[in-house]
Amino acid sequence: MKFAILNGEMIKRSDAKVDVEDRGYQFGDGVYEVIRVYNGKMFTINEHLERFVKSAESICITLPYTKKKITTLLEELILKNNLQEGIVYMQVTRGVAPRNHSFPTDNVLPSLVAYTKEVTRPLASLKTGVKTMVTEDIRWLRCDIKSLNLLGNLLAKQKAAESGCFEAIQHRSQEVTEGSSSNIFIIKDGSITTHPSNHLILKGITKDVILQVCESNKIVVEEQTFTLEDLASADEAFLSSTTAEVMPIIEVDGKRVGDGLPGPVTKRLQELFEQEIERQCGALKDKILK
Ligand code: PDD
Repeated sequence: MKFAILNGEMIKRSDAKVDVEDRGYQFGDGVYEVIRVYNGKMFTINEHLERFVKSAESICITLPYTKKKITTLLEELILKNNLQEGIVYMQVTRGVAPRNHSFPTDNVLPSLVAYTKEVTRPLASLKTGVKTMVTEDIRWLRCDIKSLNLLGNLLAKQKAAESGCFEAIQHRSQEVTEGSSSNIFIIKDGSITTHPSNHLILKGITKDVILQVCESNKIVVEEQTFTLEDLASADEAFLSSTTAEVMPIIEVDGKRVGDGLPGPVTKRLQELFEQEIERQCGALKDKILK
């Protein structure tokens, strides 16, 4: 039997139900996080909690628990569900109130839900790389908030799925922003470029880990906008996310990136990223590069 957390209580997963007037259900009025678990331990938990609080604050939701209390609850949930390798999904909504676009005026308690899912590392794709396609970024202008409103992202991801691609790379007026559920990096003549973390993209936790390991290893990364043309002429490209880690991109719109194989810089970053996972969560059974 699996368990979930609903408003601070550990309950049977099948008993975790939302009210039809939960504002998350009706309006997407809430924010969420996806946290990776390796060896039963949460990776970059503090960074995820900080982003969670920030996203919530941006839409005027005050979390009903402290970060410390949430960490304890999530650790208990992982233990109870005997999760070794997977994710924790957590979301908070503005709560349950009679349907009305403006926020409820009386003290409505935000609804917090968390559950776990077993997810293995995508080792095969991490070795071979993935195909991608390009699509216009039609989303709103606060993509820095990890909002439950994901329609723009879903439409983009569906286009990718229908084209047999792993990810849709979005652009605004030819400038690459991010993937439908990932950040995008390109490499040209050894130098790495990725979109700055502003209101047009989500400040990925994986992106930030990559920036940190680059800094400690004296690898230069520029947070600067780049165009579809830059992407097309890149030597290497990769995407990053909690579940996809450092994922090589070998094709964009049917055209090969570089020589169509994961490149040396991407492979080096995969190695450094795995080292960071092991530093935080202990030894990995399988590695990408063997
Ligand atoms: N998605 N950009 C978008 C739009 C995302 O949805 C995500 C993550 C990222 C990468 O962020 P991070 O490195 O913190 O995972 C960038 C998660 C995994 C999801 O929605 O499932």
